[in-house]
Amino acid sequence: MKATTFLAMMLVLVSASGCKAAAPDGLDFTNAAYRDVTLKYNGSDISFRYYQDIYYVASPVDSVYQKMNLYIPAEYFKGASVNGYTAQTAPIFLYHKIAGYTPAKASTLASAMRKRGPRPSGGPGGPGGPGGRPEMGGPGNGGGPSGPMGGPGREPEDESLIPSEINDNPEHPFMPLAAMLRGYVVACPAARGRLNDNGRAPAALIDLKAAVRYLKFNDKAMPGDASKIISDGTSAGGALSSLLGATGNHPDYDPYLKALGAAPATDDIFATQAYCPITNLEHADAAYEWTYGSLESAQHGEITPEMKAFSDALKTQFAPYINSLSYKSLRDEVLYLDSEGKGSFLGWVCHFLREAAQEQLDKGADLSAYEWVEVKDGKAGEIYFDKYVQFAGRKKTPVAFDALDLSAAENNEFGTETIEKQHFTSFSFEHSQVEGSTLADPKLVYMMNPMNYIPDESAVTSPHWRICHGTKDSDTSPAIPILLGTCLLNNGFDTIIRLTWDQPHGGDYDTKEQFDWIDSICK
Ligand code: DHB
Repeated sequence: MKATTFLAMMLVLVSASGCKAAAPDGLDFTNAAYRDVTLKYNGSDISFRYYQDIYYVASPVDSVYQKMNLYIPAEYFKGASVNGYTAQTAPIFLYHKIAGYTPAKASTLASAMRKRGPRPSGGPGGPGGPGGRPEMGGPGNGGGPSGPMGGPGREPEDESLIPSEINDNPEHPFMPLAAMLRGYVVACPAARGRLNDNGRAPAALIDLKAAVRYLKFNDKAMPGDASKIISDGTSAGGALSSLLGATGNHPDYDPYLKALGAAPATDDIFATQAYCPITNLEHADAAYEWTYGSLESAQHGEITPEMKAFSDALKTQFAPYINSLSYKSLRDEVLYLDSEGKGSFLGWVCHFLREAAQEQLDKGADLSAYEWVEVKDGKAGEIYFDKYVQFAGRKKTPVAFDALDLSAAENNEFGTETIEKQHFTSFSFEHSQVEGSTLADPKLVYMMNPMNYIPDESAVTSPHWRICHGTKDSDTSPAIPILLGTCLLNNGFDTIIRLTWDQPHGGDYDTKEQFDWIDSICK
């Protein structure tokens, strides 16, 4: 990792067009304040127009989280091009930092400084650091969040500050700047989250949809092509990006958007990048036990005999669920599981593990230490799933997502304005350890699962998808992102499903590949 330095900070010229935030009732981009910024990024000048704190709804209910920041390459105001794109053709990279279903701020240059600036001694976080978000509880049960976005580090004194220089970590670049170098217009929406009474499901999705509507409503006035919006998100953010990608324009969400005064425009997007999406929550517990149920301990604690009994019961739910989907593999083979949890769906999961191994072998890696894959003559062969599961390890104890004591992030996400935490599966509701606990509205649970909308004719689903999940990530079962991808493939959408070698829970670790993919679908 490169040493990160910040020399001086400077307040950059404020454009003559104004320095006040857009009025909450004005969804007109031409009213938005901006600053023209030039800074040194990895030793070279980068110039762009920086818009901070644009309200994306006319009637916000939250003054912190219903805003976005825009980063627009300076070239697009001069008739020039970047990476072959012009002001008319540049894709819009929608980058949000939703994690743990908590409220998420928009990426600012000040936050780049916080991540890449010198850390105060003993301070938490830093790029790729161990989580430590300022939130109650953690996503998942029994432990803190995994922190795909790194920890919060030092709070900047002023979110409007602009560094004069950023020396980036090439492994985890500051996405807005890295995306602009590829010629993308970058939109960074903040979004409400579960820690606030009005931020629980489906608030974050509604906010992202409203941000998309703002971009589409202002398409003519703004550089960038709003028919080429690509949403990138990780973990809970991967789930939200997937929901945004799956549910475009669906009337189920209209009343919420109307109440906020979202711009009169559509909200379908062009492409979806989802890293380790924590999604399909009502089936995630069964998938988790089908995968990790054979392990006797978890990172988050010991598995008691009572927990083991819940695990066994949940595991038996998974095969009927898989069989009810009637999905097929790329070879047109029906994906099923028998009562032992074995069958072609297991083979399908192993197929993606094999592909991940083969990619390593093709790069010349020695996989002899990986007992879960058989290698012969440079080819990945048999996958020993039981050994893979031991290798990946189990993070969460049963019940992983709809926690019986309501301690999981997801219980809070499915709360309401007046009920902080709820169950969202009949299994956990029936076995609840919390007296007087309640069950979430099934319609809301339905509205938070992208797989429900992919086959729905009333939704415009994004045509292009890239779904990634690390082989060392046990925040959810790999079956979950694979099922999402399989649903998309079975419904005819262009979809990459990729298990990333040795990658723990996290995202944006293969930015070059992600941007190459974006270029391949946009050019
Ligand atoms: C996240 C991680 C989890 O394990 C979870 O259950 C929900 C969200 C996250 O990192 O966003």
